[in-house]
Amino acid sequence: MTELTQENLNLQIRQVSHEIRNHLSICDMYTQILKRNLEKDGVKNDSISNALDCIQKSLQIIGTNLLDLKSLNTNTAMIMDFKNTVLKSVELAKAYTCEKNIEFECLIKNTANIYVDENRFISCIINIIKNGIEAIDIKGKISVIGEVKGGNAILTISNDGKPIPLNKQNEIFTEGFTTKQTGSGLGLCICKKYLESQNASLRLVKSAKTETKFEINLPSVD
Ligand SMILES: Nc1ncnc2c1ncn2[C@@H]1O[C@H](COP(=O)(O)OP(=O)(O)OP(=O)(O)O)[C@@H](O)[C@H]1O
Ligand SMILES: [Mg+2]
Repeated sequence: MTELTQENLNLQIRQVSHEIRNHLSICDMYTQILKRNLEKDGVKNDSISNALDCIQKSLQIIGTNLLDLKSLNTNTAMIMDFKNTVLKSVELAKAYTCEKNIEFECLIKNTANIYVDENRFISCIINIIKNGIEAIDIKGKISVIGEVKGGNAILTISNDGKPIPLNKQNEIFTEGFTTKQTGSGLGLCICKKYLESQNASLRLVKSAKTETKFEINLPSVD
């Protein structure tokens, strides 16, 4: 067996990342081929186009995470449009609905530029929506409401599923805290850490029988 030194570990990370990236590019290439063929054949299907866009975006996000693993990714923040980025995230997160009957309300009242790494910001929103979907048993509603005011872009994400017990509410951002059988307790911790690194914040506004609400608050850019 190979000795578990830091050097071997780094090498293994690079090799595994390399292999995963190869297969990501195959998936991406075939997604492009599918898009081209649909266009060539004159097939107009919004649901298929949306699914292909979501697959491509997810592949990109996995790629970004792999770069992080290799520590090649420094500051990748860019000027992004708040509304567009949130709408894109909600489309991606809808994939977690599976068999549940979930109504999505998405209202972004106005927009502004924000300075974030698009893929990481999208991942934060997806993590929070995914938690919301997981808290809903069979039927429920997810609301994503955004507004820019006073130099801040404020996004609230709520659901009407099973609430977080009062005595657990201050533990949910702790790395490894989970109440799920297959959870890793990393989602919220990663979101909070990333948002705070961008001068933004993430907080639980409330969690009660009728509503659990999270709020992201980040500075808008002139
Ligand atoms: N919207 C929500 N409704 C109810 N409970 C929630 C909600 N969001 C988070 N929680 C609670 O906070 C815990 C931590 O969430 P977090 O996303 O960090 O980890 P996780 O969902 O358990 O696992 P994963 O790492 O896969 O995301 C959850 O296990 C759950 O108990
Ligand atoms: Mg989670």
